[in-house]
Amino acid sequence: MKLATKLIHAGIEPDPSTGAIMTPIYQTSTYVQESPGNHKGYEYARTQNPTRHALQNALAAIENGKYGLCFASGSAATDAVIKLLNPGDEVIAANDMYGGTYRMFTKIFEKYGLKFHFINMQDAEEINKYTNKNTKLIWTETPTNPMMNITDIEAVAAVAKRNNALLCVDNTFASPWLQNPLDQGADIVLHSATKYLGGHSDVVHGCLIMNDETLNDKLAFIQNSTGAVPGPQDCFLVLRGLKTLHIRMQRHCENGEKIAMWLKKNSKVNKVIWCGFEDHPNYAIAKKQMRGFGGMMCFTLKDDSMDAANKVLSSTKLFSLAESLGGVESLIGHPASMTHASIPREERLKNGLVDSLIRLSVGIEDADDLIADLNEAIR
Ligand SMILES: Cc1ncc(COP(=O)(O)O)c(C=O)c1O
Repeated sequence: MKLATKLIHAGIEPDPSTGAIMTPIYQTSTYVQESPGNHKGYEYARTQNPTRHALQNALAAIENGKYGLCFASGSAATDAVIKLLNPGDEVIAANDMYGGTYRMFTKIFEKYGLKFHFINMQDAEEINKYTNKNTKLIWTETPTNPMMNITDIEAVAAVAKRNNALLCVDNTFASPWLQNPLDQGADIVLHSATKYLGGHSDVVHGCLIMNDETLNDKLAFIQNSTGAVPGPQDCFLVLRGLKTLHIRMQRHCENGEKIAMWLKKNSKVNKVIWCGFEDHPNYAIAKKQMRGFGGMMCFTLKDDSMDAANKVLSSTKLFSLAESLGGVESLIGHPASMTHASIPREERLKNGLVDSLIRLSVGIEDADDLIADLNEAIR
């Protein structure tokens, strides 16, 4: 099946008890057994739930993986991956990624004896400087949040294999419509399904997809043992979101391109960072591994002051000032004070995340209206 067909059909069967075409929300905490151990495959809803089961299968199929696991949030999915590790293990992670992931690694997991190296992942060879016998995991996001840097997944996967380390790719920004990291050698794909997969800003959810059975067993054990599972209604919302992912992503890409081009020509704008520009430093890799460039971008103003940025951030009408991304509606955000506030300022500045940087999640409204909205705000 092609991806658009998989998004609608993969992993989903008509409900066995009624034939309902849409997977029902199995709002139950437990399942009746005929005699001890004699049941229909479902014992307790933290461990198994039919709505979640359908979603896990669908997610595996659309990322070209064999196994999918769902979590209560993208962060819960990240947490589960790190719990594969033991004290003394080392992780090499991108120095430019979602602030909450950085916060979890440094503030939660360092104290359990894990060591994290935050490095520039745009050069796969750079990773070699940090590998040693304790390296167990390489973690990257591509495109990164919010700087839109691109990691060459194939090249990093080769380094991971050479070192017997796992490669986990956070594919939240691209979505499976634009990129499938497992095909390029990643071991685990992570999504904050809160974003493009759900797509309607009405659910917080996360997932992991992989091919290796042993890895899936270990992560399923963590999922069940630590219990950060999503409720069935949230799984239903993500399942419903998946069915239109391709149509939404096509419009996100079209609108993203129009707005990036318009911003680039605006005399008040200093720099626009969108991975579809031919002069983006990682354009060649983006073109190689992505099927489109998406609707995420950021920009700075010629007047590089917080005041000027604040004026834009509080003047748009269609672009709502809010955290998150990937929904049908356009959002504008200020990474330094919002999504990335948990990263120390010196660390942020090293990666170009200046105080006046503005991030856009371009939605699927009419692009002309979105441009008119930005035009009013950037004057
Ligand atoms: C790239 C990326 N990964 C992971 C997360 C965490 O996901 P969640 O908010 O669903 O916990 C986010 C949240 O913004 C994100 O942007």
